[in-house]
Amino acid sequence: MNFTEQSNLHVAIIMDGNGRWATARGLPRVAGHPAGAEALRRIVEAAPGCGIGALTVYAFSSDNWKRPPYEVDALMSLLGCYLARETPRCLAQGVRMTIIGRRDRLPAALRAAMEHAESETRHGRVLKLRLAIDYSARDAILDASSRAAGLQNGLRDAATPHRLTRERFGALLGEARPVDILIRTGGEQRLSDFLLWECAYAELIFTKTMWPDFSPLDLRRAVAQYAQRERRFGAIPQPPPAAREHWLR
Ligand code: FPP
Repeated sequence: MNFTEQSNLHVAIIMDGNGRWATARGLPRVAGHPAGAEALRRIVEAAPGCGIGALTVYAFSSDNWKRPPYEVDALMSLLGCYLARETPRCLAQGVRMTIIGRRDRLPAALRAAMEHAESETRHGRVLKLRLAIDYSARDAILDASSRAAGLQNGLRDAATPHRLTRERFGALLGEARPVDILIRTGGEQRLSDFLLWECAYAELIFTKTMWPDFSPLDLRRAVAQYAQRERRFGAIPQPPPAAREHWLR
């Protein structure tokens, strides 16, 4: 498939299966996460060549705080190492890195690394990489709703009535571009509180491949699978010209 036909896609990935990948190799669960970080590095490198302009990945969900402290600590320190190692690489590759999710519960050193990565890579135009850390789509929607309510109250006395539209609400969610393809590795088939608003019409692709094994070839296959799907957004398919004439008679 010619990937120049697809361009500027927004792909979101739930990178699941690190723990099982490690356990299957007789390793402790947490050993799967560094292998997952390596897989992410390869996918970021391959994404622009697959027609992807934005990539949002679920690195740590707000529900992941429920994991044992040693695993949470391992993930926090891995995220810090990832940012330190990948920021120069992203800068060189024209990748703009941004982080979505709550920051107030994260270690100060990680917050500083996030700010550094965002500021260093802010001019990147090849790929927009968004890491979701301490992220919950339901909390993001609640937060945007309360900000929208604040705006409505502020505008109550204004001469022009202010109607809250999907576009305005999407902007309050933070540059929430609609997702074109949502990929979940690891065999489960659920959204797990990830980008619920943005995935309204996403094409869902579930694979049994564990995240550390997910390769650039798998990414290409997912985009090719997406290209075969008909996206109708609730409309009906355009009838062939002959059928149209029949209906008009
Ligand atoms: C799910 O695997 C994965 C996570 C909870 C975290 C995702 C993290 C990474 C891919 C690692 C690194 C990412 C960055 C940005 C450094 P799981 O532990 O739930 O696996 P399981 O379903 O097999 O238990």
